[in-house]
Amino acid sequence: MTLEAQSAAIVAQFDYTDDHVNSAVNEFRRQMTEGLEKDGTSLSQIPTYVTGVPNGTEKGLYMAVDLGGTNFRVCSIQLNGDTTFNLTFTKVAIPRKLMVAKTAQELFAFLAKQIELFLQKHHEDHFEQHVRRRMTMSSPDGYKDEHVFRLGFTFSFPVQQVGINKGTLIRWTKGFDIPDAVGKDVCALLQDEIDKLHLPVKVAALVNDTVGTLMARSYSSPGKTGTVLGAIFGTGTNGAYVEKLSNLKKPLSGEYDKTTGEMVINTEWGSFDNQLSVLPNTAWDVALDKASPNPGIQMYEKRVSGMFLGEILRLVIIDLLKDPKVSFFKDENSSSNDWKSTTNIASDSSIYTQWGLDTAIMSVAAADNTPELSTLRGELEKQLGIYSAGLDDAQAFKAIANAIGRRSARLSAVAIAAIVLQTGKLTDSANADEPIDIGVDGSLVEHYPYFRDMIYEALRAIDGIGEEGAKRIRIGIAKDGSGVGAALIALVAAGMEKRLTTADYLGELRSNAKSNKLTVVPEDDAAQD
Ligand code: GLC
Repeated sequence: MTLEAQSAAIVAQFDYTDDHVNSAVNEFRRQMTEGLEKDGTSLSQIPTYVTGVPNGTEKGLYMAVDLGGTNFRVCSIQLNGDTTFNLTFTKVAIPRKLMVAKTAQELFAFLAKQIELFLQKHHEDHFEQHVRRRMTMSSPDGYKDEHVFRLGFTFSFPVQQVGINKGTLIRWTKGFDIPDAVGKDVCALLQDEIDKLHLPVKVAALVNDTVGTLMARSYSSPGKTGTVLGAIFGTGTNGAYVEKLSNLKKPLSGEYDKTTGEMVINTEWGSFDNQLSVLPNTAWDVALDKASPNPGIQMYEKRVSGMFLGEILRLVIIDLLKDPKVSFFKDENSSSNDWKSTTNIASDSSIYTQWGLDTAIMSVAAADNTPELSTLRGELEKQLGIYSAGLDDAQAFKAIANAIGRRSARLSAVAIAAIVLQTGKLTDSANADEPIDIGVDGSLVEHYPYFRDMIYEALRAIDGIGEEGAKRIRIGIAKDGSGVGAALIALVAAGMEKRLTTADYLGELRSNAKSNKLTVVPEDDAAQD
């Protein structure tokens, strides 16, 4: 079989038709309902105890930390109260050995250390002069801890939340594996290490990155109706949306404000359809799952998110390289190579190792429209040690990569559509002219060319959405939303801590805004790193 025919046959295996998309939306909605009714289901549908979204008027200086899939970020965020904010942050890569550390303490000690370094660098005055508990006559216990930073902790893993700053780790995802942490309260783990360093920081809120994204987007682009969904399409994938409390049938143990009638739900959609009733399942999906640290779970994530797409492509390529009937990245002699050389793959090429193909090269492939695919061929050499790839090789690589990327975008549309339909906003005549606002973040949606266009293409083909519905759905990037969102939830938590009624709380916000009391330290450097 020619390489072209072989690659077309592979591309066809990644086809996910409009019919497939429609049945998956129905199944997604069924699994959503199931997850709202009981624990232990495929879609976890975790209640977050966050009962409203911001409207852009929130003010104050807060800290946030974000433990995602690859990096740890520490930020301080000045919310200006006019839908704008200023963000200062530092970012460090999480050392691989800490992702699989023996004890949770090793990881959390590292995180606390980064918070200390951040405070020293960006809030030095405050750090040196802080008085942890100031004496005051105005509070019953005689102390006021106004000089303690409230910190929102974005922890982007599945957590059973039992309150706004309390939650136990259900399982690790995205390559992390520290069994000792499972079942423990991650806020307490972080607070303990912060306290060992005597830092003036209180972990006030625990937030999934999708919840943070939802909050941040709602703060920055408030409309008549708030943002309905915050979603991440990055190393991992997940979404959080606003659900009616009346639909949430499983018991809630912690305290929350019932007046809004709503609660933000962290779907943990990475584990949608672990049973594979509607998800596609090629031989390469099977191989990837089998060799992963968590076989059988996060099955949707393994077909959608950045951590896995490169690995699917790598497995396809390895199969093609092994196939004696196909001439892929090999030439009989220089006459069969358009650059008149012969292709060589370095013996230590990372193409031969698990996770060795970075998904980023798929963006290069999708974006390269040069006649000879010279950008892609340059990257094949630089990143994978594949020298003098022929045009036909690069074309096959691009076609297969695009098919995997396109399947991911169409699967992403499934989750988005199911949630939009679940909110009932498309048929709500009261707000018929309002956009249905969705905040997204993550490397895939930000950097993969035409990812959002491919999502929209699929949305238009979904029953109940169609051309008209797709036009109303506004998918916008909320970059670094999880940090800003965590700060917003820390603000809400600070209000709850004082057990104020909503009215009192808003009153205090207003008077604090006047006297500037919420600004606990001066902002010294609002520039981004
Ligand atoms: C994984 C995590 C989830 C997170 C997502 C995006 O799916 O389990 O909690 O939101 O990655 O980072």
